[in-house]
Amino acid sequence: ALAGAAPFQHNMDDDVIEDMCKNIIQDLSDYGLCVLDNFLGHEEGKTVFAEVLNIKDTGALRDGQLVSTKGKAKEDLKTIRSDKICWVHGKEPECLHIGHLIGRVDTLITRANKMANNGKLGQYNINGRTKAMVACYPGSGAHYVKHVDNPNRDGRCITAIYYLNLNWNVHTCGGLLRIFPEGWREDRVADIEPIFDRLLFFWSDRRNPHEVQPAFDTRYAITLWYFDAAEREEAVRRYDKERLMEKSSSSST
Ligand code: OGA
Ligand code: OGA
Ligand code: MN
Repeated sequence: ALAGAAPFQHNMDDDVIEDMCKNIIQDLSDYGLCVLDNFLGHEEGKTVFAEVLNIKDTGALRDGQLVSTKGKAKEDLKTIRSDKICWVHGKEPECLHIGHLIGRVDTLITRANKMANNGKLGQYNINGRTKAMVACYPGSGAHYVKHVDNPNRDGRCITAIYYLNLNWNVHTCGGLLRIFPEGWREDRVADIEPIFDRLLFFWSDRRNPHEVQPAFDTRYAITLWYFDAAEREEAVRRYDKERLMEKSSSSST
């Protein structure tokens, strides 16, 4: 039922899926985040990486946008966020391995959602997601300042990030993802190195402010945001209403 998800033909061993899901459920509940390493395996990870490099070489990546850009000049945005991004379905002929990755993450989320208490992961019932955001921080200090992905109930409940950086050394390359989980002791943070074939999940709401520290080498990741059915429905209804009101006010002037 997930948008763009291929059926379960991803030959992931069922026991392996179940173990990963137990991990995800437990870690999200205990820490609000979960890290899975060696997610696709080296060979498959490299084919995904090759597609991302190809996308970059075709010039498809654009400056990252902010959800709310009202009153902010373009130059300001670069000081907040200096990644280059594009959105893909995973069905494009040049993105089939990315599609495979997406299918695998969908499988995990769908299964974890079913396995979790009364079919809810956290308080959520996940029924869809965004397209995949392919992101490149081009080095020379590119970063993303501390922010919350979903501060205002736009429907996104879980952020899933897959990292693609072979031989990444945070001491020389920077680019650390630092999460400041709400409710942890003031001086406690979760530092996630964006290493090759690592998959990360975290709650997208105000529980997890985070930043990407300046990257001094090219840093690649693919991100998916999963929707909670009820919160998304409410958000879409709210956006529709706002758009209608904008229309009627512009037609009356
Ligand atoms: C979106 C989007 C990513 C971001 O509209 O779904 O999330 O963090 N953008 O700006
Ligand atoms: C984002 C973001 C983190 C990362 O795109 O919203 O926070 O580690 N990315 O790339
Ligand atoms: Mn973010």
